[in-house]
Amino acid sequence: MSNEFVNRRNIQWFPGHMAKTLRLIEANLKNVDVVLQLLDARIPLSSLNPELQRLTASKPRLYVMNKADLADPVLTKAWQAYFRAAGAGCIAISAKQKGSAGQVRSAIEAELRELLEKRAGKGMSGARIRVMVVGIPNVGKSTFINNFAGTTRAKAADKPGVTRGKQWVTVGNYDLLDMPGVLWKKFDSLETATNLAFIGSIKDDILDIEELAMGLVAQMQTVYPDRLAQRYKLSEELVTELGPWELVEAIGRARGMLVSGGEVNTERAAIMLVDEFRASKWGRITLETPPHREEQQDGNEQPSV
Ligand code: G4P
Repeated sequence: MSNEFVNRRNIQWFPGHMAKTLRLIEANLKNVDVVLQLLDARIPLSSLNPELQRLTASKPRLYVMNKADLADPVLTKAWQAYFRAAGAGCIAISAKQKGSAGQVRSAIEAELRELLEKRAGKGMSGARIRVMVVGIPNVGKSTFINNFAGTTRAKAADKPGVTRGKQWVTVGNYDLLDMPGVLWKKFDSLETATNLAFIGSIKDDILDIEELAMGLVAQMQTVYPDRLAQRYKLSEELVTELGPWELVEAIGRARGMLVSGGEVNTERAAIMLVDEFRASKWGRITLETPPHREEQQDGNEQPSV
């Protein structure tokens, strides 16, 4: 698998409406007090959009690692510590679960403490708190806003890349500005691109599902081989010894996904594997571990937080 994994298929993961979204975000920054960037707790760094980092650098920011219910809780804690060590406000939530809105409210108020105290000093404590909500497609922005608002106001898009216009959602003393999901033009590594594809933030119809499944299985072989072994009733030894493609075939065979002649229907097996990962059938999984801060500075590949 090469770096052409996504590129050679002329992938439009950055369609015109995303460029528009970035301009919209930039133009609206002056209207908000804080920017909430939703991350996917399974891939906190790969889901951190460097373009959004650059655009919002001058604003108070809070990172919200969403879908924590799907991620490895130990690594979620480690990621929180990583962000906090970098001086960045960061919390982990499951937007689908009740209570996440309260957690975010408290975190916003902590992040904006100085501003809120200043406002109170001027007798403006009733002033509205304006929050811009940004993130990659499919990260759970609509779900989060619905939960925060206690309604199903914002449309939950079932496919990444669905265009949605800018919209304000008013809840108590909060005004939330919901921005469409946005990726960035050039991924700096194959790992970032594949991680985004694994979680479904790049549209599947522009990806090769068999390569995707193979990449996913390869990663599982190094980080969580036991999960694959358990789920597909294979020995852990086999899971670690086979090449990733052979493992996709072995899993397809174990699931009886055969075509006439006894060959494995690898496309079916691949679809099943990607679906099962996304539905967390393999348990709670985090695909990235926090880098040591020195490594990050040396490599300088990832956006700083
Ligand atoms: P977006 O606006 O950022 O594009 O994301 P959206 O809220 O539409 O959420 C994308 C998918 O992620 C939805 O699933 C949603 O239910 C799911 N999701 C959002 N937050 C969480 C979370 O904290 N935990 C889990 N497990 N899932 C979450 P879907 O399958 O596309 O839709 P649906 O069948 O759930 O309605």
